[in-house]
Amino acid sequence: MYNQTQLKDLVEKALLNLSLPCEAPRLAETIRYILSAGGKRLRPVLALMACNIFTDKIDHAVLPAAGLEIFHNFTLVHDDIMDNAPVRRNLPTVHTRWNVNQAILSGDIMAFIATECFINLPPEILQTVLRIYNKAAIDVCTGQQLDLDYEKVPSVTESEYLRMIELKTASLIAASLAIGATLGGAGTKERDTLHEFGVNLGMAFQIQDDLLDVYGETRIFGKTSGGDIAAGKKTFLYIKAMEMATGELLKTLKTLYQDKNHNRAEKIIIVKEIYDTLNIPQITENLANQYISRAISTLKSLPVNNDRKEELMSLTLSLTGRNI
Ligand code: IPE
Ligand code: IPE
Ligand code: MG
Ligand code: MG
Ligand code: MG
Repeated sequence: MYNQTQLKDLVEKALLNLSLPCEAPRLAETIRYILSAGGKRLRPVLALMACNIFTDKIDHAVLPAAGLEIFHNFTLVHDDIMDNAPVRRNLPTVHTRWNVNQAILSGDIMAFIATECFINLPPEILQTVLRIYNKAAIDVCTGQQLDLDYEKVPSVTESEYLRMIELKTASLIAASLAIGATLGGAGTKERDTLHEFGVNLGMAFQIQDDLLDVYGETRIFGKTSGGDIAAGKKTFLYIKAMEMATGELLKTLKTLYQDKNHNRAEKIIIVKEIYDTLNIPQITENLANQYISRAISTLKSLPVNNDRKEELMSLTLSLTGRNI
């Protein structure tokens, strides 16, 4: 069995060896910039772990796993334009360092390079992999649209929020696991179990991300904090606070959160104070932990020997209360 560090190294090597289009050097430069800026490589590592559950031979899965990371990086570059985010992975975002057009184009190309990473798979699994991948890609874009739509409305329900993050984040994490399992030769039932595991893990992951956007240490998390509050994103923190706040607190939260013209720093401080008063960080962490527990139960139900699941299990546990 491969451990997490070994799998991450395999992914890094595949990304470094990638041949990038060179006729317009600016494209390769921006793609290299984002791909080499770091990142946890969660999706490809999950894919390889899922593959490794079913087979000791994982070489053929490394390039497709890298493809999942490249697709993820495409979504990040475009997400940063949509979210007006200045910093990612502790570096200026692509559209800030260059410009929006540059970020759109390098993102577009990355999406196609990602597909290229699957193209040489044997025909008998190519169709299954592409079907899972395309479904996730459409889900991510759909979720991103809902995320933007929700910025403009004063409130959304908890179930609308949960569906939105399932689409924008959990779907790709789940697809990574399902694709990895397929590449490892898993049957449909095992593949679906790992997909379900991934949905739960992905839900926890995005809820934690929303928490870290407010409370994370910028230097460690690598993104400017408070961006979600500034943009009026309908995160779990906001939805819960709206549900729990009463009187003046509720009035302030409601009007301030939708006010894009309010002084940014002040808005963040006031909303954060409201969250603190209502114990929102703890409630949010509890919800993330519930999804982690569900992920663990699902993984436990996978009918393979426990030692084959060890790496995936310990990665899952290590995400509890993550700060990066
Ligand atoms: C950020 O993903 C976008 C979300 C879905 C929350 P990651 O937190 O996996 O970002 P990197 O790849 O490690 O930078
Ligand atoms: C984005 O969610 C999820 C994607 C599909 C990229 P966020 O907008 O919260 O991700 P970050 O915080 O910018 O990484
Ligand atoms: Mg976003
Ligand atoms: Mg964002
Ligand atoms: Mg975020």
